[in-house]
Parts: sequence; structure tokens; C-alpha cells
Amino acid sequence: MALLDIRNLSAAYGDVPVLFDVSLHVDEGEVVSLIGSNGAGKTTLLRAVSGLISSQGELFFSGEKISGLDSHRIVEKGIAHVPEGRQLFSGMTVAENLRLGLPRSITKTESLRRMESIYELFPRLKQRLGQIAGTLSGGEQQMVAIGRGLALQPRLLILDEPSLGLSPVMVQSIFETVKKLRDSGMTLLLVEQNVTESLKCSSRAYVMDAGHITIGGAANDLLHDPKVRAAFLGGNFVEI
Ligand SMILES: Nc1ncnc2c1ncn2[C@@H]1O[C@H](COP(=O)(O)OP(=O)(O)O)[C@@H](O)[C@H]1O
Ligand SMILES: [Mg+2]
Repeated sequence: MALLDIRNLSAAYGDVPVLFDVSLHVDEGEVVSLIGSNGAGKTTLLRAVSGLISSQGELFFSGEKISGLDSHRIVEKGIAHVPEGRQLFSGMTVAENLRLGLPRSITKTESLRRMESIYELFPRLKQRLGQIAGTLSGGEQQMVAIGRGLALQPRLLILDEPSLGLSPVMVQSIFETVKKLRDSGMTLLLVEQNVTESLKCSSRAYVMDAGHITIGGAANDLLHDPKVRAAFLGGNFVEI
């Protein structure tokens, strides 16, 4: 049974349809990449999964139907969504932003344990706990955004363009983080413009074009697929 199973999902903004009959799945322990040119509908799909926008079709998480649930209920089920553009509270401190990801139901000891495990993954955040989030570098802000998602101790972590706008060194560091999370057994659904890097740390991948899934398969096959290479080589997107 898939951890996340998306079946025949469609979504629109007002009268404008954006997603058409999208089906994909993510198994427990997998990293699955979703790639596609700008405006293809990747963020819209992630938002539909998290209940941030309404959609038609069916969504199952661990066999349970989650379509139509409020976004906070979906978070409670164990889906953490790190949004495109980080979306931190820029006037609040690093520590305050991280704590926002902690469920209210857990004990203080458990909260401290989770915060410590975030510092273990991102040691530089520990030195910046009192710093206002808006004054961090882009890479540090992305660490806070991922840390906030991990504070949930999610069963599925969704990352939307985590490396967007970062320096090459920080891009590498984000992919190192993805690999560490993968190796720790975390299940990830990853949207990335760095297609090669993204495919290299994934087990499977899907290509989305104009709201349709056009290709799906083993990440290694996609990495060597001439059509995928022609479309995404060097990160320059052209129509497939
Ligand atoms: N809030 C919105 N209102 C109306 N149209 C939107 C909104 N967000 C995205 N769109 C449109 O939906 C399409 C898919 O966008 P998006 O899901 O952000 O694509 P991607 O993440 O693949 O770049 C685009 O045509 C975009 O202009
Ligand atoms: Mg997007």
C-alpha cells in the first residue's frame, strides 16, 4: 500500500483548470521527485495534497481517505509541507519559527528532543536561535523552513523548490540534507528545478507538463531518458 496515493486529481483556480486527472503515488521510505517547467502545476498539486486548495479526485494517506480534509487535519495525519518561498514569520526568531512546527499534544521533553534533532541536522541554526528569521540568509531560512516541517516528525515531508534562489554551495547543502533524511528512512515528495541532483537522490520521479503527468518511472531511468535529458539538461526547461 502506498503511503500517499493520488488518484485522478483535478484542480482549478476559479474557472481556470490547472491539474488534469493526475495520479501518482509515494511509497513509505521513498524519495519521489516531481519535475516540470514553470507553471506546470507542481505547487498546485502539493497544495491540493495538503488541503490548502480544493480539488476533485481522491487522496489517500496510509490507506485513509484524506480528500476534503482541512489542512490542519492533514498536518495531524503526518504530512509536513515546506512551501515554495519558505514562508517563515520573518519578524519572529528562528526558535519561534521552529516551535510553530511542534504539535501541541507532545510533552515538553519530547519538544526538546525534537528541537535537538533539528539542531543535529542543522548545527548552524543552534547558534542563531534568537536571530530574527528575516535577517537570515536564504539558505538558513530554508533550513528553518525544513526544520519547522521536521518538528512535526512527519510521515511524509513535502519540499517545494527547497533550493530555489540559493547559492551553489547552499544548493549542495540542501541536497545533502535530502540525502540524510532519506537515509534516516524519511519519505519525501520533492519538487525541484535542479533536475539532475533531484533525480540522483530519488528512487522514482514524475514529469508534469501543463497539468498532466507525462512520464513516470525509476529516477535512474529518467536521468538517462533522452527526452528528459533534452528537456531538462542544464536546468533549462523546454517543452517535452
Ligand atoms: N493563486 C493562483 N491563482 C490563479 N492562478 C494560479 C495561482 N497559482 C498558480 N496559478 C496558475 O496555475 C498554474 C500552475 O502554477 P503552479 O502550480 O504554481 O506551477 P509550478 O509550481 O509547476 O510552477 C500556472 O498557470 C499559474 O499561473
Ligand atoms: Mg511551484
